[in-house]
Parts: sequence; C-alpha cells; structure tokens
Amino acid sequence: MNSGIFRVAAQSWRNQGLPLRIMRFWLGFTWIYAAWDKATDPGFLTRGSSTFIGTQLSAYSAQSPVGFAFNKLIEHSIQVGIVVMITEFAIGLATILWVVPSLAAFGGFSMSVGLWLASSFHVNPYFLASDTAYAVLWLSYLLLIKNNRKGFTMSLERRGVMRVGIIGAMAVAFAGAGRIFTPKNLQDNASAATKTKIVKLAALKVGATKNFVLANGAPAILFRTKTGVFAYSAICTHLGCTVAYDVVSLSLICPCHGSKFDPFKSGAATVGPATTPLPKLKVAIEGAWVILA
Ligand code: FES
Repeated sequence: MNSGIFRVAAQSWRNQGLPLRIMRFWLGFTWIYAAWDKATDPGFLTRGSSTFIGTQLSAYSAQSPVGFAFNKLIEHSIQVGIVVMITEFAIGLATILWVVPSLAAFGGFSMSVGLWLASSFHVNPYFLASDTAYAVLWLSYLLLIKNNRKGFTMSLERRGVMRVGIIGAMAVAFAGAGRIFTPKNLQDNASAATKTKIVKLAALKVGATKNFVLANGAPAILFRTKTGVFAYSAICTHLGCTVAYDVVSLSLICPCHGSKFDPFKSGAATVGPATTPLPKLKVAIEGAWVILA
C-alpha cells in the first residue's frame, strides 16, 4: 500500500482550519458509519428482511417523484445494495484521507440529493429531512475546499489514480469485513426460531390471519381455517418484496410487480411474474398456542 496516502492525509488535516476540519470529519465519518451499518446488517442483502435494500427500493419507487428509476433498480436490488455500500465507504474514506476530495464531496452531494428524491422528498416541513441538510453541507464543503486550495491539493488530485485504487480496495475490504461483525447469520437465527410461540390460539379466530416475523427478521403470515393452521413465508418468490393478504381476492399479493399467490392451494403463484410457490412454514397447535414447529 502506498504509505504516502496517510502522510498526505495528515498534512491535509494540519493545513485546514477548524471549521473545515469539523465539516470534513462529520461528513466522512457519517458516510463510513452509514456504510458500516449496512455492511453489518444481516437483512440488508437478504430478500424479505425488513431492511432489505429491495424493500427500500420498492418503497422509493412508490413515493419518489422519480419512482420509475427506482422501479427499474428493484430487479437488481442486491447489486444496487453492494454498490451503494461500497460507494459510501469510498466517499467517507476518500474524505477522511483526502483522496480526490472534490470528487468525493461531489459524490456525497449527489448521493444526498438522490436520497432526498428517493425517501424524503415529501417530508413536511422540509427541514425535518436530513438528506437536504447533508446535500447543503456537502455542497458548502465542496465549494470551500475548491476555494481553499493550497497547492498540495491540486497536485494530489492529479496523481490520485493510485490512491483512488487504494480507497476502492479499502472500501471493498470494509464491506467484506462487515459480514464478520454481523451479529448472527440467518441460518442460526432460523433454527433459533424452532418451537417459537406465534400467537395464542384463542386470539386467532377461524378465518383470521396473522402477520408475524421469524427470528431472522423475515416476514411470514399465519392462517387459521376450520381444519387447522398453516403459514407461509411472506417473501415474494419473484424478487423478494413482502406480500400481503387481500381478503377480497383471498390471495397473497405482492406490491412490487403484482404477483398473486393462493394460500389455499399450497401458496401457488396464480399471477406472475412469480412462478414459484411461497415456501410453506411448519406450524402447529400446541396446547393454547400456535407454534412454529
Ligand atoms: S417482487 Fe416482483 S412480483 Fe413480487
């Protein structure tokens, strides 16, 4: 690794005034933290989890003024999640280590504007949305470092190709390291769910349904009929959005692309694009409870 990267970083911190250092540290640290949060979240790249990037993208596609763009990304949710995570690491690390700082600041600004359009465009009043505040902060920081160039900055940016490579490698390594610090893998959690009590039988009338969450965070839905109880994973087998039961059509419907599943025919997909049935879960009545068997 080019050890000069840290020497230049240290020099850049020394050469900057306190206000700029505060902005730079806050922005760089926050971007690294946001990426680390995703890297250590077992659900972020797991279809059906409440924090799955695909679930977030489908929410964005429904509410954003540029929802059509997010709708196109849903099909590539996992790749999008990986790119977002690595880009956040790269922007944060480049900001802290002063590698192509203007480009990193522009990346931070663009990402903030993108998040504003995606998730907080309708927040009212506007000042409650942190994305707009970050966009303004990144833009101010970008203009400040452009105005405050002191020679070394420009030369660093010109010979930054190798350092950019180092930052890219570090970002990928951090993203990979996040999996090591993930609290538990989903397999462990799933087995931990064995014999979990879901609901008291008395609270689930014949004909009723109950949404519940597996120990790994994956959504599921329980049915009670005259003949007993049964349950399915609520993760759409197309691209992993969460299905919901519709009492009118007696179907489980996916909000993303409209797939329908028949819970009374083994979860079969009755309307595409999904073609695979919803996975059935083993549930049973044990005493006064319905349990995950
Ligand atoms: S995710 Fe596409 S239909 Fe469900």
